[in-house]
Amino acid sequence: MTSIEDRGVEQLRDHVAEQLTRARARSRQLTDAVDEHDLVRQHSKLMSPLVWDLAHIGNQEELWLVRDVGGREPVRSDIDELYDAFKHARAARPELPLLGPAEARKYVGEVRDKVFDVLETSPLEGSRLVDGGFAFGMIVQHEQQHDETMLATHQLRVGAPVLDAPPPPPGAPLPHAEAFVPAGPFTMGTSTEAWALDNERPAHHASTEAYFIDTAPVTNAQYAAFVDAGGYSRPELWSDAGYAHVRTASLRAPRFWEKQDGQWFRTAFGVTAPIVPDEPVVHVCQYEAEAYARWVGKRLPTEVEWEKAARWDPDTGRSRRYPWGDGEPTERHANLGQRHLSPAPVGAYPEGASPLGVHQLIGDVWEWTSSDFRGYTGFEVFPYAEYSQVFFGADYKVLRGGSFGTDPSAVRATFRNWDYPIRRQIFAGFRCARDAHRADLV
Ligand code: AVJ
Ligand code: FE
Repeated sequence: MTSIEDRGVEQLRDHVAEQLTRARARSRQLTDAVDEHDLVRQHSKLMSPLVWDLAHIGNQEELWLVRDVGGREPVRSDIDELYDAFKHARAARPELPLLGPAEARKYVGEVRDKVFDVLETSPLEGSRLVDGGFAFGMIVQHEQQHDETMLATHQLRVGAPVLDAPPPPPGAPLPHAEAFVPAGPFTMGTSTEAWALDNERPAHHASTEAYFIDTAPVTNAQYAAFVDAGGYSRPELWSDAGYAHVRTASLRAPRFWEKQDGQWFRTAFGVTAPIVPDEPVVHVCQYEAEAYARWVGKRLPTEVEWEKAARWDPDTGRSRRYPWGDGEPTERHANLGQRHLSPAPVGAYPEGASPLGVHQLIGDVWEWTSSDFRGYTGFEVFPYAEYSQVFFGADYKVLRGGSFGTDPSAVRATFRNWDYPIRRQIFAGFRCARDAHRADLV
């Protein structure tokens, strides 16, 4: 007879296996979609060749699950250095003696076979690394994160479309443009979410002043109005660093936008079409987001404000796992998992709204915040400093919520992403916030 605990472990094992398999199907789709030449070439200095991502996915899986958790012999001990992201800059990766497409596919398959073996025998409890399947969950998320990176490489790739997906669901008008969030504390971060990464921990009290936050991300139409009003040549709207960057990088509009005969077009995954007015703007850097916010008399939310708007339930005082509650994302809640190849129009996910009436916090576009990426009070490196800690500091800004290219397993309302404020190849947009003054409250 199996005890309830045993049955729980068996269910967890099945869940892990399913998540690993889903991640691999996506990696395969993204790499099988192009020919060998496209797999080994560099589509942008900002990105690795797709074949590097693939073998790196396998190498991380080997390091953590085959060798560390499994205590098994290496599948290949000769290639660790090639796939260590800290040893070689992305721009230098095409020149390395990388595994070719066939070798890389064989390698990741061999690693995966051993991992299923390890999974069969792992107790999935008894050490912090495997409790709740953590190490497996970390590797699932790692593969999905690189799948999103590969999707960004596809977006940079020049040539005929090779990816396909149905259009997102239609939008609908929202009753309010802004939600009011009262001053006070809430629980930020988590100590109980089994697959939460170190930077999301621990749960702690954070507090805000009263503020307003937009109920939706800024749309293409709204952003186009800023561009057409000459926003990119008005230094007073930009930070000093932001305006210096606009000048040196000659920014004039979001990346992948182009004006033809007075109409804005954007190219996405090889298809050029007029911008969709009510879709969230994507491929803007944090400086552009800040300047737009200043143009409309607002600002970016802090990371604390973003998370409070996404999780805090005023009726219970609890923080939820997701804006809609504690249940996993479904296709009715959020635009995730590359189900569509664009953000969805505003109002497309009424069931995904937070208790305060804030929509589309999860999915569609990563949302820039004004916050530097730092460890929470009580942060502990787990299980390796190169995931989060080495990036802490003022150089990196926090993004929240995930994009249409983020897998549901790799995002939740506590999840923290980060990048340089100049980055535009990621699927990033933003929403605005503003202080609530006494006059607003009467
Ligand atoms: C969390 C998305 C910033 O891609 O650099 C992948 C995730 N870490 N491999 C990144 C990650 C190690 C990371 N981000
Ligand atoms: Fe990685």
